[in-house]
This record gives sequence, C-alpha cells and structure tokens, in this order.
Amino acid sequence: MHTVPAVDAAHLPQLLKAMPKAELHMHIEGSLEPELIFALAQRNGVKLPYAGVEDLRRAYAFTDLQSFLDIYYAGASVLLYEQDFYDMGRAYLTRAAQDNVVHAEIFFDPQTHTQRGVGMETVINGLYRACRDAEIEQGISSALILSFLRHLSEEDAFATLEAALPLRDRFIGVGLDSSEVGNPPEKFARVFARCRELGLHLVAHAGEEGPPAYIWGALDVLHSERIDHGVQAARDEALMQRLVRDGVPLTVCPLSNLKLCVVSDLAQHNLPQLLEAGLKVTVNSDDPAYFGGYVNENYLQLFAATGMNSQQAWQLAVNSFDASFVTPQQRAHWMRQLEAVFARYAALA
Ligand code: HPA
Ligand code: ZN
Repeated sequence: MHTVPAVDAAHLPQLLKAMPKAELHMHIEGSLEPELIFALAQRNGVKLPYAGVEDLRRAYAFTDLQSFLDIYYAGASVLLYEQDFYDMGRAYLTRAAQDNVVHAEIFFDPQTHTQRGVGMETVINGLYRACRDAEIEQGISSALILSFLRHLSEEDAFATLEAALPLRDRFIGVGLDSSEVGNPPEKFARVFARCRELGLHLVAHAGEEGPPAYIWGALDVLHSERIDHGVQAARDEALMQRLVRDGVPLTVCPLSNLKLCVVSDLAQHNLPQLLEAGLKVTVNSDDPAYFGGYVNENYLQLFAATGMNSQQAWQLAVNSFDASFVTPQQRAHWMRQLEAVFARYAALA
C-alpha cells in the first residue's frame, strides 16, 4: 500500500474536509431538506401531514429502517415536475461540492414517483440536466443509478426497467433499496440478469439490517459489483474473506447506521475493523437531509468517535475513487489532487 506522509491529528478535521472524495451511496430523494420539501409543496399545491419545517424535523426520530422509509416516501410526494427533480439535484450537488466531493454516483427511486403518476422521463430528465449543469457550472462530476424498490414485486421492477430503457444513456447502472428484511436479493434475480445483459452496472443494498446471507445473495445471484452498507458482513468470516479476495467495495454510511439504530453509538461502529480486515470500505451519507449530515459530517463524526487517523483517511478517499465507475484517467486525475492535498497538510506539522 502507498504510504502517505502523516498529518498531525490537530489538522485531521481540516484534512477530512479538504480531501477530494467520491460519494457512491446517496439517495437523491434523501437529500430533500425540510425547507425544500415545504417550498415544493407550496409551489405544487401538495398538502403535507406536517404543520411546517420544525414539525417535520421533529418527526425525524427513527427506530429502524422502516420508520425512516415511511417519512422519506412522504417527503418525496412533493416532487411532480421536471423542474422539481432538477432543483433537488442541483441543491445536492451544490452542497456536495462544498464538501470537496469531486464525483457522485446518485441513486434515484423512480417507482416512488411513477406510482404517483409522474412520468419516467420527468424524473430522469430533471436529474440528468441537474448533473450536467452542475458539471459545467461547478466542475463536479456525477452519474445516476436507477434503484428498484425491493418491497415491490420483480414484475414491477421489470416494468420500471422497460420504462427507463428509452433513456438508457442517462443512467449508468441499477441498484436495490427500500425494506431489506423479508425481501432478499433472490427476489430480483431475473431483472438483475437482464440488466447485466444490457451492460448496466449492478449494485445492491445488503447487510444493512439483513443477514450475511443477503450479501452472499447480492454477490452470487445478482452479481452486484458493490455492496451498499454491508456492515453485517463482520458476522461471517468466510464472507469477509470473499469480500477481501474479490476487492468488493462496501459503501458504508456511518450516520445512517447511527440514526436507524444499526449501531447504538458511533464509537462502536465496525468501519475501522472492516478497513483493517482489508475490505474496500468507503464513507457516504445515504440520506443526508434525514440523518444529520452530508458526507464530510460522516467523516468528521466517525473519526472523532473512533480515533481514526490520517492514514485511514487516505485509504477511505483512495477507496472512494477505486470503487467508483469512472475511467482510469479520471481516477488518476483525482488521485493527483488527493496526493497534493495530503502533501500540503503534512507540511504543516
Ligand atoms: N436502505 C434502504 N433503502 C433506502 C435507504 C437505506 O439506507 N435510504 C433510502 N432508501
Ligand atoms: Zn441507502
């Protein structure tokens, strides 16, 4: 492994913020801040079951994944027009750029919208235009990943794929999210096989609340290239060895795990152990508007709680680029930026 010049612990928070990074696990609907939810509700004449921004924020006291998903889907109900999807995308990318995210691979949940009568092209075109304009105006690179809702049927996922295929050039892959337990990867074996034939990138949420068996299923049945969350892998030594052997990235979301009670305390988070075991771990925000922070806040709170160091920060940033679906040239370009930032902070001593 590349050894990096050590950065003094006193400068670690600044380093974590300044280092260029990729974000590979975030749901764009989970970036809707309460203020934007209410602004869109007013613009579109949508009635919400909350009195206002503060009332909505008070409801963000989650006990598990499902208690979050119920509110997350309610929040997304204000999205009706292409401009709404555009505004949501631009707001996230503007915020991510402030965290020195240079590349984002963004999940979107089309079924949450098409079920309400919103057109597939409305969703994809709004988000795609946001990505393109953010690249031009802010220099941040991004790509879209269409995520199937696993609480719905495989047939529904097939219909969603069919509806999205005319816009195939506007998303790079597919994912699998929503209620995990009781909806194993095997339920989506055929639709993922079809996506594989189509040359789409494949990722899946697995081992957030669900057992290691769901991670095995995501790998062996779905051929998932990355595992979203995957923190339950630590319960299965053979699985850990498999993930190391194949260099399968885990897109871990520390504040999400804390807010959804996957861990009771950030100091107890197993990310340092997963990294130490040689897994290609990355840090991500999942649903930043709901879980108390964008990606830098995830790095800062995790490092403060666990005592991780600058060498580990380097590895996480490198992993974020290694695990991304970009060209080797693009990766090399960001690696040079990363080296320059570390050299600058190491020189401060
Ligand atoms: N898990 C599953 N589904 C989701 C999540 C998550 O963390 N966030 C948004 N949809
Ligand atoms: Zn997620």
